[in-house]
Amino acid sequence: MDKRLKMATIGGGSSYTPELVEGLIKRYHELPVGELWLVDVPKGKEKLEIVGALAKRMVEKAGVPIEVHLTLDRRRALDGADFVTTQFRVGGLEARAKDERIPLKYGVIGQETNGPGGLFKGLRTIPVILDIIRDMEELCPDAWLINFTNPAGMVTEAVLRYTKQEKVVGLCNVPIGMRMGVAKLLGVEADRVHIDFAGLNHMVFGLHVYLDGKEVTERVIDLIANPDRSGVTMKNIVDLGWEPDFLKGLKVLPCPYHRYYFQTAKMLAEELEAAKTKGTRAEVVQQLEKELFELYKDPNLAIKPPQLEQRGGAYYSDAACSLISSIYNDKRDIQPVNTRNNGAIASIPAESAVEVNCVITKDGPKPIAIGDLPVAVRGLVQQIKSFERVAAEAAVTGDYRTALVAMTINPLVPSDTIAKQMLDEMLEAHKEYLPQFFKQTKTAA
Ligand code: G6P
Repeated sequence: MDKRLKMATIGGGSSYTPELVEGLIKRYHELPVGELWLVDVPKGKEKLEIVGALAKRMVEKAGVPIEVHLTLDRRRALDGADFVTTQFRVGGLEARAKDERIPLKYGVIGQETNGPGGLFKGLRTIPVILDIIRDMEELCPDAWLINFTNPAGMVTEAVLRYTKQEKVVGLCNVPIGMRMGVAKLLGVEADRVHIDFAGLNHMVFGLHVYLDGKEVTERVIDLIANPDRSGVTMKNIVDLGWEPDFLKGLKVLPCPYHRYYFQTAKMLAEELEAAKTKGTRAEVVQQLEKELFELYKDPNLAIKPPQLEQRGGAYYSDAACSLISSIYNDKRDIQPVNTRNNGAIASIPAESAVEVNCVITKDGPKPIAIGDLPVAVRGLVQQIKSFERVAAEAAVTGDYRTALVAMTINPLVPSDTIAKQMLDEMLEAHKEYLPQFFKQTKTAA
């Protein structure tokens, strides 16, 4: 081990932090992070202190020499960092609740990543990410940025298009969740399963599935299509089953988020019902977070509590820490991440971000070319890519008409007029986090 590493985690007060700390502890022997700087904004100070104290207890209990620092000073945390991870949420869960609730009023699914909600999450998040990169250029120009902040695909696209930051990887736990789900269906350990992933973030497909190196795609599709079994999903997305003949005809594995596009009416009905009864996902998570932070306060707690697995981002630490370790150790193993396409998927522009299996080297992810996506799903993937690109442009320019185009071309949005109504209401609702839209007069309003 030559040197002890410095890692800065922006949004360190997140309830997911124990995931990350657990991952670092498990891998200390191969990934010697000596300093972990958890950064948050003043509004998140209380959460930062609670989760930071738990992180310190976890490290102490594990007996690993990781110093945990808590700070509201982002620049101090970034100074000299080797790895920067981002897991913040501009406007918190309150903003997410608006992203989910306002579209429902118009009979549209909000979807906080690839739907109208995702557009607004991107508009709030991208300027902050670009600001972080400006700080990184000055304070830690050699550091890697590992982004978990949603919409991870759109954020990666924005970084690749609007900055010179080459050392950026977008990360998501959907692929690892799919692999674990498939392993469970097959009744085997997850490390015996390999999936060829390709697509975009929250729009990724499993093209081929292998068990111990032998292709089992058809068998897995049969298992998922069986209505008597529960399929593969995440905690935040309800499993409504699939039309067996549709899946068998599609011949590739959809990801849990595809339910919003292939089962729109059913998912909308579910979301409308949930909004009336238990609340939207953001509202459910607000409650879950309260409970988690109560647990985190317990001075006797010194491990990641299993209740954290109720969150959709479960196992994020495994994805994040194994990625960082593979970069650091030049492992050249295969992991699905968001990176520059460079021709890996033929029908997506070379310079755009895609989520695809990559060989992870010390110089970053090298995407594995798949040729092209099956024709049946190619168009939807391209449409979401167009949505991400136009949304990223709107986030950077603060241009009203560009934002309206992004909203209207989203496949979940039924018309230009509804798009405009939602856009206007959401701009107003999120005003305090969207300075780029309010420094100018709305020309088209
Ligand atoms: C999934 C996604 C994450 C997302 C999370 C939401 O696992 O991959 O990108 O942040 O779910 O989970 P939550 O518990 O906040 O609804």
